[in-house]
Amino acid sequence: MRVVVLTGAGISAESGLATFRGAGGLWEGHAVEDVATPEAFARDPALVHRFYDMRRPRAKSAQPNAVHRALARLREVHDLTLVTQNVDDLHDRGGANDVIHMHGRLDGALCAGCGHRWPAPESLAGLLCPARGAKEARPDIVWFGEMPYEMDRILAALEACDVFAAIGTSGQVYPAAGFGRIAAQAGAHTVELNLDRSAISRDFHEHRIGPATETVPAWVEELSARA
Ligand code: APR
Repeated sequence: MRVVVLTGAGISAESGLATFRGAGGLWEGHAVEDVATPEAFARDPALVHRFYDMRRPRAKSAQPNAVHRALARLREVHDLTLVTQNVDDLHDRGGANDVIHMHGRLDGALCAGCGHRWPAPESLAGLLCPARGAKEARPDIVWFGEMPYEMDRILAALEACDVFAAIGTSGQVYPAAGFGRIAAQAGAHTVELNLDRSAISRDFHEHRIGPATETVPAWVEELSARA
């Protein structure tokens, strides 16, 4: 069975990482346009670096939870394309390989000048690009207004899958928020696993409400029994 899974901040919440739009969410402390757009970086790179430098050690000290481990197991029994909006590496450390980080990743640095990528140190502020020496190091994060990574591969997987699941995402940000409708129109069975209804619930045939660490392992067990 061909399965595509999209994850959002809700699956890292139970590892202690703040979501974006819940109470105490990341955006509450910051206006998106001040820390997560190319214009913000051009205007005040130090503020943008501080925002991501603050998140990097928190993500590094967080531990994968039952959701990350269950999804890693799912790949052992089905043809799984795992796409995450999250910029932490909890899927990778939870045993999944070939994770598509469509919004980039906190542990990556990117040179805004030449496109060189390298592992991010604790702080990127004032860092020189190790390839060409330009002072243009930025977080390897896809900001609002930029094209998410690997969209061709994601769309091809959505068009061909039998099952699409959106897990722990509010469905507020496109193109990820449109994946359920694309998969349903291509004939896939779509399931949403979330604490509550979301902005995209209408796009899903099935809903499993509850904490992802409870709903996802049960869902993976059921899917695995159909292998
Ligand atoms: N189990 C399941 N779902 C949960 C849990 C949980 N324990 N905790 C929270 N959720 C759900 C919330 O109900 C909400 O629908 O996770 C979702 C979190 O929504 P957001 O904070 O908006 O995160 P996300 O959907 O990943 O945001 C998408 O927006 O700000 C941009 O680039 C950023 O990748 C991010 C994108």
